[in-house]
Amino acid sequence: MLCKHWIIFLAVGLAEGQQLRSLKAVATPVPPQLNTYVRNQEALVQLGKALFWDMQTGSDGRTACATCHFHAGADHRLQNQAVDPNRAFAVNVPLTAQMFPLRVFANPANRNSEVLRDSSLRIGSAGLFRRKFVDIVAGQAAEIGEDSLDKPEFMAGELQVRRVTVRNTPTVINAVFNVLNFWDGRANQIFDGFTVEGRPEATPGVAVMRDGALAREQVRLTNASLASQAVGPALDHLEMSYEGRTWPKLGRKMLSLRPLGLQKVATDDSVLGPLAEGEGRGLQDRVSYLSLIQEAFQPAYWESTELVDGEYRQVEYNFALFWGLSMQAYQATLVSNDSRFDRFMDGDRSALSAEEQQGLQLFQGAGNCNECHGGAEFTAASFTARGNGGGLNVHAFQRTGVRPVDEDGGRANGTFKSSGLRNIELTGPYFHNGGQATLEQVVEFYHRGADFNPNNNDIRPFNASATQLAGLVAFLKSLTDDRVKYDRAPFDHPELCVPAGHVETGPGLLAAGGDPFPRSAAERFVSIPAAGAGGHAVPLQTFEELLQGVGADGSRAHAMKEECPVPLP
Ligand code: HEC
Ligand code: HEC
Repeated sequence: MLCKHWIIFLAVGLAEGQQLRSLKAVATPVPPQLNTYVRNQEALVQLGKALFWDMQTGSDGRTACATCHFHAGADHRLQNQAVDPNRAFAVNVPLTAQMFPLRVFANPANRNSEVLRDSSLRIGSAGLFRRKFVDIVAGQAAEIGEDSLDKPEFMAGELQVRRVTVRNTPTVINAVFNVLNFWDGRANQIFDGFTVEGRPEATPGVAVMRDGALAREQVRLTNASLASQAVGPALDHLEMSYEGRTWPKLGRKMLSLRPLGLQKVATDDSVLGPLAEGEGRGLQDRVSYLSLIQEAFQPAYWESTELVDGEYRQVEYNFALFWGLSMQAYQATLVSNDSRFDRFMDGDRSALSAEEQQGLQLFQGAGNCNECHGGAEFTAASFTARGNGGGLNVHAFQRTGVRPVDEDGGRANGTFKSSGLRNIELTGPYFHNGGQATLEQVVEFYHRGADFNPNNNDIRPFNASATQLAGLVAFLKSLTDDRVKYDRAPFDHPELCVPAGHVETGPGLLAAGGDPFPRSAAERFVSIPAAGAGGHAVPLQTFEELLQGVGADGSRAHAMKEECPVPLP
């Protein structure tokens, strides 16, 4: 009797979101049709991890997926990371603590108080210079390209800077649990082997050996939003590619190069260690992208000696398929399910402090956070939050009033994916525009019921004391998995050298980078050292610490202080 009342009380006391729980009990989604293409999962993950971190994949031979996703799965750079459509900020602007939050109220607890400052700046990620693709050169990471004029927001006088994304880079960790990826969910859960949008009927199909001859076959994998996502940046002329590069050309280039040939790989890397060259760079002589593809995929997708379209080897032609499926497989290993919160939910009552437990109460109570950030994944956009019919949860994409709708419409009418919140302390700045630097600022945002009218009954001001709000922040920090915080397996990784802004010769004055691209501004690169399975001795720096220079003395990893020479193309 007593027990029954208690259950009713709980049900009424909580907001209606999915029950919060440990992520350990949730199975990682897999495309059920995978075995049609894949014969060795281990080799598939090796291929995916090598490609994801390999700077040679970018047209300039210096840009990898990891260039924007190296820090707890997200970006951690300070300069030339912002773009301002209204051009109120200078090109190449370094971010400072004083710039945040982007919208400032006289009374932070009251959305109707006077607005002291507002900015439509977006904190994104630097990608590539705008250049036209001419061709690849076998055995060389840098492709041949030509300068091409850019929009004013990426020009400083006559010089071009690396272009910057208009949205903030979300983490790839736990992204495998999202039914749809990207802030607007445009990475389809059906992977067609070629496109982000997933339209099997509109693609030419992959090349497959059937009865001794090459044939075309449409690809249609489900639960594969990460594969659909991955084929986007590779040819995107803002993120990784010169304008006009094609998949077979990218395939031909990568098949001619030593995997990770410019980067050190730890011999105890949890995935690539056994293949690592050791003292030198990249993987051993016996390992090539061809050997990894041959090990990972069914022969029907690479064994033909006949040319496709009279021009490309089958293995080059199908490169987008290999790329998408291997990237998905690697990112599916990036599951962080061992935070103190998980241990608490699995029965270790001492895993959360009293303050954090009060924060948890607010999260599920007056804060109403779990309405959209519920379940083990802390997002209603997960597979487990879907309804019986398999459709998206109504809280998967929501309008929360971060910016006016006409600045970025998101999925529709200003709705964006309800982000997963695990490891959130490490992935600032926050929201699709990167407009809040700290979790305190995010909590204040919700406390006042958003910055712009969200037109959403689930986002409204709530009563809470300063102590309670601090508890909520403390709770959010308990969602950090130490393996992420110290770059330990499976979050360990090869070395990386990332472009970290352009060299200024005077305030706002950039220097020319010289041949072969006289129009591109000179730049600085920062070293992200390789981490083996045991990770770093010190924790990753947070974005707030980066802004304040905390940890620059070596007490934080990825403090962005150690320059590396501009990588040889
Ligand atoms: C130039 C920086 C940059 C590069 C390079 C880049 N990304 Fe991203 N990534 C972003 C940004 C920005 C977004 C958000 C874009 C959006 O939602 O509109 C994003 C989104 C994602 C997401 C979606 C996560 C989520 O929760 O929705 C995944 C997964 C991802 N990227 C993986 C990759 C992979 C794989 C590659 C390489 C093939 C890659 N990224 C290359 C900047 C980058
Ligand atoms: C109505 C749904 C909804 C509610 C309620 C809600 N959120 Fe969110 N949350 C979202 C959406 C949607 C986004 C992405 C918004 C954007 O960037 O435009 C988001 C983003 C965030 C982010 C930033 C994630 C990132 O990676 O940048 C944090 C942190 C966060 N929410 C915490 C909270 C907390 C704490 C609460 C409770 C006080 C809360 N949310 C309540 C839907 C919601």
